[in-house]
Amino acid sequence: MTDFKKIISHAKEYGFVFPSSEIYDGLSAVYDYAQNGVALKKNIRDYWWKSMVQLHSNIVGIDAAIFMHPTTWKASGHVDAFNDPLIDNKDSKKRYRADVLVEDYCAKIETKIEKEVNKAAKRFGESFDKTQFLATNPRVVGYQEKIDSILKRLGQSLEKEDLADVKNLIEELDIACPESGSRNWTDVKQFNLMFGTKLGASADSAMDLYLRPETAQGIFVNFLNVQKTGRMKIPFGIAQTGKAFRNEIVARQFIFRMREFEQMEMQFFIPPGTQKEWYEQWKQTRLNWHLSLGMGEENYRFHDHEKLAHYADAAADIEFKFPFGFKELEGIHSRTDFDLSSHEEFSGKKLQYFDPERNENYVPYVVETSVGLDRMFLAVFSWALREETLEDGSSRTLLKLPSVLAPTKVAVLPLVKKDGLPELANEIVDSLKWEHATAYDEKDAVGRRYRRQDALGTPFCITVDHQSLEDKTVTLRDRDSMQQERVAIADLPSRLDEQLNIKHWLQKI
Ligand code: GAP
Repeated sequence: MTDFKKIISHAKEYGFVFPSSEIYDGLSAVYDYAQNGVALKKNIRDYWWKSMVQLHSNIVGIDAAIFMHPTTWKASGHVDAFNDPLIDNKDSKKRYRADVLVEDYCAKIETKIEKEVNKAAKRFGESFDKTQFLATNPRVVGYQEKIDSILKRLGQSLEKEDLADVKNLIEELDIACPESGSRNWTDVKQFNLMFGTKLGASADSAMDLYLRPETAQGIFVNFLNVQKTGRMKIPFGIAQTGKAFRNEIVARQFIFRMREFEQMEMQFFIPPGTQKEWYEQWKQTRLNWHLSLGMGEENYRFHDHEKLAHYADAAADIEFKFPFGFKELEGIHSRTDFDLSSHEEFSGKKLQYFDPERNENYVPYVVETSVGLDRMFLAVFSWALREETLEDGSSRTLLKLPSVLAPTKVAVLPLVKKDGLPELANEIVDSLKWEHATAYDEKDAVGRRYRRQDALGTPFCITVDHQSLEDKTVTLRDRDSMQQERVAIADLPSRLDEQLNIKHWLQKI
């Protein structure tokens, strides 16, 4: 996988992601999506929305406001429990999430396991059995046991709110400040992650509000409105995409952990007692959604939570292999009836459903799927970016985006800027743009234009040359194989459809 710094610089150079307010030296952990980035982000959002809302007759979408009544966050538990354990290094004055320091320590041990696996794979060649090696190699087994016992203790200490033990763990593991190498730590303290703001003009009457830290609560408070007006029968889901805000202590790793980010969430309302089966089903459905993009099964894994959030009776992450290791991409949570019951209590309004099959009223249970759009963007972008050495020894930068997500699907290039070739190329753009995001480019030699489109992730280039004027054919170049083929202009729509139609991708789920 490409070096992380290269990923960040490529994102900027090719108009995907810019640091926010860069002319003022930027704002920590806040980013702007540029002309190509916004298209990639929209395509990811659409891919999610179609798979969730369009393809499920029992899932509908909403778009709730970011501002919500402040009692929402009392009821949801965020005022009291949406905290991260933080620790300061007294010498460097840097602040860290205590749990992340420990997890990073474990990630380093994991890298050692990977090295042992790679060495053994080379030594044993074809006959190498990774599963058996992981289960039997004494060194690897020792490493894994160490990771398991550290994470178990961390989980238990956090669960019990035993912050002194989290500090003890950091000291026992001899974890140093990544900046300064110092081991001079403060105690671990809890820090609430919500951003506060005010609603209203005058200082006395202004109401204290929070910027929502998750989109989910907009769904819970609208549960009954949607159920009644949509005449929804349980089981059913409500989906939403939108901004969320968290005052992250350690906001680093580019768009992986931001202070303003976008979530794609779905709450699935079910009868009490059925949560286990729905939880397992949604875990698998969501993993299949990721796998349908073709970024390699080996790059995903489940991580079941030891420490459960205040609202969950089971939770798992779908982790992706980012350039800095396996990290959470999506969370699947069995949220019980915690949120609806709590909103009932705080609002004094009934949030119940009459189930005609059970002939009873109940507060539904909820299984939630929640994926970060920016994090999904980073997963796709970092996986796709690669440096390839070609047969002639030269190299090319390739952004091998799943073609359904690419910002531009087709670039149409006249071989030269004269003889009527630009006119024909523009006619082709005009005929294809109804179906696909299409670009026109006439600058530079055609080879350089191909390289630029490769770096932008454009799956197809169509080159218009003098022969095109005579026989109405063009060259269709495939980004990944670089194969070029002569195709009739009239056949372009069907040829492109084979690869680009979202239907073919979603059918793999
Ligand atoms: N409603 C449940 C919820 O918010 P979460 O695990 O805290 O659960 C869900 O967040 C997803 O949102 C994560 O898996 C991640 O993809 C994304 N996410 C969370 N915090 C983020 C941040 N600071 N920056 C970018 N994405 C974030």
